[in-house]
Amino acid sequence: MRPKGIFVTGTDTGVGKTIVAAAVACYLKGKGVYVGVLKPVTSGGVERAGILVSEDAELLKQASGCASPDDDIAPYVLRRPIAPSEAARHDGVTVRYERIKEAFDRLSTRHGFLIVEGAGGLLVPLAEDLMTADLARRLQLPLLIVARPDLGTVNHTLLTCECARSRGIGILGIVINGQPEQPGEAESYAPRIIERLSGVPVLDVLPRSSGTDQKRIVERLADCLDGGPLAAVIQSLLMNKL
Ligand SMILES: Nc1ncnc2c1ncn2[C@@H]1O[C@H](COP(=O)(O)OP(=O)(O)O)[C@@H](O)[C@H]1O
Ligand SMILES: [Mg+2]
Repeated sequence: MRPKGIFVTGTDTGVGKTIVAAAVACYLKGKGVYVGVLKPVTSGGVERAGILVSEDAELLKQASGCASPDDDIAPYVLRRPIAPSEAARHDGVTVRYERIKEAFDRLSTRHGFLIVEGAGGLLVPLAEDLMTADLARRLQLPLLIVARPDLGTVNHTLLTCECARSRGIGILGIVINGQPEQPGEAESYAPRIIERLSGVPVLDVLPRSSGTDQKRIVERLADCLDGGPLAAVIQSLLMNKL
């Protein structure tokens, strides 16, 4: 049986993939689901006690309560904050799909639901012959696309949908993240235009939280998910109805 889960991608880096993935994990943890998390490739790892770690993976792990080994949660942590294929070259590493798939398989035997966070957007190179899109297609999880709310997001989100479709990757839906309390004209129109032109549902428009405490932002967004369309779609995935 195909593992249950989602592959979280974004229209760009910095749009809130980690925060949204962690919010979904936190929401599911609150519902008693033992969620597994996977951040296959991180560039710009940070050193803690001499070990290079992925801050994204740390947040995902904390939000989900996932107790699987760190090597499975974050199989490739690269030093430089540049495109992963180049960061890997600097570290003398080659990112291999097989290693990621082994971690994915181990996680999916231990957990009821998997949340995978891709690096950057779909066309980010992980290795000479592997892009984030290839990873999403090969892992066969439906895509949750995180988009920013402001002007330019229609173009970036439609490009991402078109890229996914052309590569045979199923799209679960779109989440617009970071909507200001008082949206401007572009931010107010974007969700409807994106939905109409892409034919993909905008499952949630999540607010911009004040403060910089990642854990608090995640908890706040997890509360926002409760009872909403994204939560309903994820419940359907969990119950094998999608
Ligand atoms: N809804 C939000 N409210 C406030 N800050 C946010 C929100 N979403 C993301 N951020 C902040 O924006 C930055 C980038 O988010 P992140 O999830 O790391 O992006 P990505 O994983 O796409 O690179 C982080 O500092 C994060 O805390
Ligand atoms: Mg991230």
